Amino acid sequence: MLKILGIESSCDETAAAIVEDGRDILSSVVASQLDTHGKYGGVVPELASREHLRAIVPVVRQALDEANTDLKGLSAIAVTAGPGLVGSLLVGVTYGKALCYASGLPLVAVNHVEGHIHAVLLEERKKRNEVPLPALALVVSGGHTHLFGVSAPGAYRLLGKTRDDAAGEAYDKVAKLLGFSYPGGPILDQLAPYGSPHAVRFTLARMKGNELDFSFSGLKTAVLRWVERHNLTAEIEARRQLSRTSNRPSVEEWLTVTPQTTLDLIASFQATVIEELLRRAVVAAAEIEAQSIIISGGVASNRGLRNATLRFPEFSFFFPSPGLSTDNAAMIAAAAFPKFERHDFALLDFRAQASLPLAK
Ligand code: KG4
Ligand code: ZN
Repeated sequence: MLKILGIESSCDETAAAIVEDGRDILSSVVASQLDTHGKYGGVVPELASREHLRAIVPVVRQALDEANTDLKGLSAIAVTAGPGLVGSLLVGVTYGKALCYASGLPLVAVNHVEGHIHAVLLEERKKRNEVPLPALALVVSGGHTHLFGVSAPGAYRLLGKTRDDAAGEAYDKVAKLLGFSYPGGPILDQLAPYGSPHAVRFTLARMKGNELDFSFSGLKTAVLRWVERHNLTAEIEARRQLSRTSNRPSVEEWLTVTPQTTLDLIASFQATVIEELLRRAVVAAAEIEAQSIIISGGVASNRGLRNATLRFPEFSFFFPSPGLSTDNAAMIAAAAFPKFERHDFALLDFRAQASLPLAK
């Protein structure tokens, strides 16, 4: 039995988890900073580092307690080495190094994006089911929109990525523009079924060079132009008011301040993002003769995206459960497992890297 403590602090979640044999989650603690950043409409890096500093010790202690273990019961400590906000990464990396120094445990450095892929591999392993390889992985979150070919755990080839905004970032920016609270992705996803996805026609991005790259800035600008052409000042103000007065408004509350035309816009925006994501994912999957398609990262919890995969019955899709879609440390501990087996350890002087690539 091999227990790994995972520590994740790349963005606005301080997380720690203990995973046994890369498969069994003994504990997974996530301290979200939503209340800190929500009022600013996005993550404020300086505040994020401060909050990580405040949370890291109790979060790790809670993960150890819930797993009924202590440092002596562990085989290794894994930390997110990047990509992410450097000040945030540093908190987890420094604490992980200190724990390794004090305990003599080996340190494993994990790429956050690889963690998102392992969120899926972990759950399938738990079901005694292996994801058939080669797989195509679409990692889609607030910070990333990447397509990777996965030939084995640890062997990745970058096939395409966003040239501007990540898909989750586009969701959050469009939501902010419309007066919704942060993060806007889940809110737009919940409202999309109330609108018509065909009401507003957005053009799909055409990519010169690598056709497997993504772009979402054109879509974001098209939404902005639409908002400028329609007079939404009063409804936007009503939604801002609602976000100020209610802590996490419900769908019903949002619906009271969102007219049908705006619901149609939201549904059309969501349909376009999903189209952009899936059409490139299936082309890439066919190109590498993938046996399966893994979709992971915060946007993987999008219900519209999950439903839309049914349009491609020729592919087997694998998603993480919602709790493992967004940032967590279980995925970091799981990604560390094959590295541990390969004795792929980090030196105590390794550095966190804001733009750490997973594959070229
Ligand atoms: O993976 P994650 O927790 O953090 C990053 O690594 O970025 O992803 C957070 C992102 C946010 O942009 C959030 O709006 C988006 O994922 N997100 C969603 C949904 N749930 C979370 N976007 C669309 N639909 C959702 N249901
Ligand atoms: Zn993430």
